[in-house]
Amino acid sequence: MVIPVVCDLSNEEDIKSSMIKAVERLGGLDVLVTNHGGPPSKSFDDATLNEFDAAYRSVLRSTITVIETTLPALRDGGGSITNIVSASAQEPPANHIISNVFRSGIYGLSKGLSREYATDDVRVNCVCPRGIMTDRIEYKIDVLAEQENISVEEATNRRREELPLGRLGNPAELGQAVAFLASDVASFTTGAVFEVDGGWSKHVF
Ligand SMILES: NC(=O)c1ccc[n+]([C@@H]2O[C@H](COP(=O)([O-])OP(=O)(O)OC[C@H]3O[C@@H](n4cnc5c(N)ncnc54)[C@H](OP(=O)(O)O)[C@@H]3O)[C@@H](O)[C@H]2O)c1
Repeated sequence: MVIPVVCDLSNEEDIKSSMIKAVERLGGLDVLVTNHGGPPSKSFDDATLNEFDAAYRSVLRSTITVIETTLPALRDGGGSITNIVSASAQEPPANHIISNVFRSGIYGLSKGLSREYATDDVRVNCVCPRGIMTDRIEYKIDVLAEQENISVEEATNRRREELPLGRLGNPAELGQAVAFLASDVASFTTGAVFEVDGGWSKHVF
């Protein structure tokens, strides 16, 4: 059964009331998955302080507020938190300064929480997508085509070719990774960062 509860993640009161409503309707909470809209891709020269403030609210503060509001229900019997972040935030590229600043914060938040709430049997992990074909990637392919003055097909090929697997992922492939980490199958995994990126990330550790 799916119970939709709509909220605006940039509005603290809205988050709190929606999360409380969701937990009440579900009769408790075992699994929390956080997600947020990606911040604008900007160079440091182009980004304004207002844009940093807005991204802090929509990316980091919203995640903190969702977790803070739902944590009592997760601690009551144990559960898992899985935060959807971004593979690129682990290898910060140029011209993504806002994402680089605030998404890294979610990794720090997750690791810290995984240690603070382990004895309550609350596991906390991150999933890092790259190249999963969603509205955002479609939009980014359009932007790339426009910026480079190339066709959308060529821009799509570039996004494919940057991935060792040589294809874009589909949202179900991200969902499967989230379901794995959130479920009891991953009962001994906490504080982990799990890439779902077609092999894009280059780091070993
Ligand atoms: N897809 C990838 O390969 C990839 C790569 C790197 C990072 N990521 C990150 O992973 C996350 C999910 O990716 P995605 O591709 O699914 O992104 P997406 O297509 O842009 O979807 C983002 C979702 O967040 C919702 N959202 C945005 N602002 C919100 C707000 N203030 N309150 C409530 N909901 C809000 C959007 O709702 P509406 O549809 O109602 O606007 C949408 O459902 C994003 O943070 C993205 O930046 C994805």
